[in-house]
Order: sequence, then C-alpha cells, then structure tokens
Amino acid sequence: MMSARRFSSVSPVFALLAVAVLLMPAVAAAQDAQQGQVTFTRDVAPILQRSCQNCHRPGSIAPMSLLTFEDARPWARAIKEKVRLREMPPWYVDKRIGYQEFLEDRSLTDEQIATIVQWADSGAPRGNAADMPPPVDFGDRLKWTLNDPPDMVVTMPQWYTVKANGPDEKVSFYAESVIEEDRYIRAVETKPDPGSFRVVHHSNTSLMHEEEGWNDFLNEYAVGKQADMFPRDSGRLLPKGSRIVFNVHYHSVGEEIKSQSQVAFWLYPKGIVPKYEVHTMKVGRNDDLDIPAGEITRHDGYFQLPKAAMLLGFQPHTHIRGHRQCLEGIDARLRGDDNRPEPAKTVVTTRSPQQQKAEVKQQTQPQPEPQSAPAFDSSQLSAEIASLEAELAKDVERYAKRPRVSRQNSAATMRDISAWYRDEWRKKVERIGNLNYPDEARRQQIYGSLRMLVTINRDGTVQELRVIESSGQPVLDDAALRIVRLAAPFAPFTGELAQKYDQVEIIRTWRFERGDRLSSR
Ligand code: HEC
Repeated sequence: MMSARRFSSVSPVFALLAVAVLLMPAVAAAQDAQQGQVTFTRDVAPILQRSCQNCHRPGSIAPMSLLTFEDARPWARAIKEKVRLREMPPWYVDKRIGYQEFLEDRSLTDEQIATIVQWADSGAPRGNAADMPPPVDFGDRLKWTLNDPPDMVVTMPQWYTVKANGPDEKVSFYAESVIEEDRYIRAVETKPDPGSFRVVHHSNTSLMHEEEGWNDFLNEYAVGKQADMFPRDSGRLLPKGSRIVFNVHYHSVGEEIKSQSQVAFWLYPKGIVPKYEVHTMKVGRNDDLDIPAGEITRHDGYFQLPKAAMLLGFQPHTHIRGHRQCLEGIDARLRGDDNRPEPAKTVVTTRSPQQQKAEVKQQTQPQPEPQSAPAFDSSQLSAEIASLEAELAKDVERYAKRPRVSRQNSAATMRDISAWYRDEWRKKVERIGNLNYPDEARRQQIYGSLRMLVTINRDGTVQELRVIESSGQPVLDDAALRIVRLAAPFAPFTGELAQKYDQVEIIRTWRFERGDRLSSR
C-alpha cells in the first residue's frame, strides 16, 4: 500500500531565481508604456530577463542570446510574432480554462505582450542606457538549477557518442554505484552535459532494485526542464540497495557529439524522515490507445489515488500526435447525474486536506473571500465547458460501473494485496508451461520473449488474454496463450483481495529460453 500522504508527478518548475528580482521593473514598464515611447532598456529588457534569458543566453538551449540590446535588436520582429502567438516563452497551460496558479510561471501577461509588440512596431528603440537593469546572475545554472551544490551526483558510466547522422536512438545505462542507505530527496535534477543539449531529446532516470526486482521512474530531463523541488516537509525516498538507470533518447544533428548525463540529488540530512512522502508515477493508462487515421479522437485514462494526496505537478507527454491533455480530479462521492453548479468544480486544485479543514473553520466567522475560481465570460467557452461537463458526467458514470481491477504497478511502494496472488499464479503457469513446452520450438530451437496481459475474474476464470508485445514468432505467441488456457481456471480470490477487487490484471514478459525452459517476470 502507498504510505504517502502526498503524490506528485514530475513538476514543471522553472527558473526559480530570476523571478523575485525583476517583478518591479516589469510593473513600471507597463505604466510607462502607456505614457510614451517603449524602450528596450526600460521596458523590454526586464521582461526578457524574467521570461526568456534562462534559455536565450550563450551555452543554453535556445538558438540565440537575448541578453543585450545588440543581441535582441535583430530579432525584434521575430520576438514580436513569437510572443504575440504565445509560442514564446514556452508555456503550454491553456490560459482560458482550469487551474492557473503555477509556481514560477514565466508566461507573459497581456500587458507584457503589448509592451513588446509596441516596442517592435515603433522601430525597436534602445532607450536610455541608464535605464538598463543590471544583468541577471544565472550562477552555474547551465549545470544545475539550484545554487547550492548537490549532496550527491550520479554520472552515466560512460560517454556516449552520438553519430553525425543516423536514426534516433534510445539507450539505457546502468550506474555502477549502489545507494548505501535510505535517504530522502529534497530536490532532484537530471541533465546532459551542457555540450550535448542539442542531441538529447530526453534523459530519464529510474531507480532499480535488483534484489527486490523493481524499477521505478525517478526523474525526467527534456529540453527546458529544470530540477524537481519538493515543498517543505516532503521528500521522495531513495531506497537503500537501489541503482540509478539512465534512459536517454538521442537525436543526430549532422555533427558527431559526445554526451553524458548526470543526476544530482539534494538530500535531507541522514536519519530525517519528512512528514510527506512524494511519489512520481504515470497516471491514466493507455495500453489500448488506438488513433483512427485522419480523425481527432479523445482518450481517457483513470488513476485512483489510494489515499488523500496533494498534487505537486504534472507533465503531459504526447509527442506530436497529441494536442491537448487535461488532468481532472474526480471526487468519487459525486455521481454522474449530480447537478454540479460550477464548471470550476471539475478542475484540479492543489489545496491540501489540511487547508480545507482550516477553511471550514473560518465559515463561522465573517465570510472570507472565496477562493476565486477562474471567471469564464465568453459564451463560446461556456458552451465548450458545458459539453465537456456532459462528457465528463458520462465518464464518471461509466467509471463508477467499471469492475474494480487490481492493476499491476511496478512501484515498490505500491506493492499491493494482490502481490501474493500474482506470485502463486506465476508459479502455476510456469509449472504448466514447462510441462507443455512447445515441441515445435524445441525442435527448431526457436527462442524469444513476449509480453502478455491476463485479466482474471474473482472466481479464477480468465476474463481477457492478449499478447501485447509479440515475440515475432507465432509459435511462441500461440504457445504462451495456450499455456495460460491450460493452466486456467486459477484460484478464486479470497480475503481482502476478494473484498476489494473484481479482477486482477497481470502483465508479464514470458521467455522461452535455451535449455527449453519457460520463465516469466
Ligand atoms: C524554456 C526555454 C525558452 C524560453 C524561456 C524562451 N525561449 Fe525562445 N526559444 C527557445 C528554443 C529552444 C527556441 C528554438 C525553437 C525551435 O527551433 O523550434 C526558441 C526560439 C525563439 C525564437 C525564434 C528564433 C528563430 O530562429 O526564429 C524567438 C524569436 C524566441 N525564441 C523568443 C523568445 C522570447 C522573446 C522569450 C521570452 C519572452 C523566449 N523566447 C523564451 C527556448 C526558449
């Protein structure tokens, strides 16, 4: 079971240090902009410092520097277009709907955009040199987001050479060192060396525990991503005996480049166990994702929080096929046909249970200002929301009717009451499989592995059986299916498992190995 009180996905936290410094000049700029000429030094530079320069400076990820007037002037038209279209700075949160209060939000306000547009339209003047704000000190942020040095850095065991030309590659590297004791993480950041930003599409790290046999997602770097910093009193467990695995997606850029990723940890002192444990996990399943050609479709996935949790952040990842992603909290106590008054109710908020309690107490006193929900005034938007609401209501209903399935989860902390059942199941299938090892495969020495999904009903019968990754050998795929059918029915659910679930889902990799042995993991 999950011991956490908080739950997080990867949090989109950006450019921490630039923010506080520059808020004031930006406000002043908006006022001056109404009065007279908009200039670079007084009005535009503060905006660039706050929202652009972390990427647009030498050695960072953007194609050109925007540190000085000389740097920015030639780009005035392009800057105007990119900010007007809200393509820069990259900020993919839909401004018209849903939760908006993100930490370190570096997107531009309408006034800031107007200031930049006016500057470009009036010939992009420099202005008075004395107005220029002092340059931002980015410290060593090309290296790590946090200024204080990390407590521990784990480096990929070797440099990898990305060829000048070639297809994209995804390569895994296993760090040699093993974590020696349980520690809690305050902040974590994965990064390639600054010389290879151009070729690294993503660099993911995970924790692997060979003895206990699990592998758990840790942290992702993708272009522009910075450290995950957990709030006070919360931390993620770095378990003793685990090792770091890097999985890096490389993309050739016409020039041979060597690359090496690192992951840095800022830890709580030894022996300190923070009050809240952070978990990072994939939510919503889409194993059955099927996008019909030439159509726009919508796909939904669900994830049930095992207990009250606070959402620290989320990271949509859809590559180029996906256009929008929406994360909503569904209160299991609501029914589909409930008459919900406010569209904003379906929006995920990050208010913690403790704060909610505090709000209830305040009700007896003069009414506090209500936690403001975004105001929707455009009628088109309301219509859009109404139709989303209707769809959602249907989803909630469908969801309530779904069988309760105990799904497989690789996270060690999530090992659930069905672990024992899965294990017994595996032993039975392996035994039957080895007794019925496919003759043809034996004769022709065909080996290989495949991934299979099996859903078992509470009475032990098989609800669904399907190969989700073929071995490429029909003999082996068929044999695996046949073996499960031979082994069925399985034990009926008992005890807590029977109380809580209608089905257990088991996904395993089956190996038909040399020595004509069948094993599964
Ligand atoms: C998170 C990093 C990041 C931030 C912040 C950012 N940019 Fe960019 N910018 C990029 C990257 C990367 C590219 C190149 C994108 C591409 O080639 O598709 C780019 C491209 C551009 C371009 C187009 C350059 C060309 O070749 O046409 C302009 C103009 C631009 N940015 C302006 C800005 C401005 C103005 C801001 C702030 C208001 C800003 N950017 C903030 C990363 C960033």
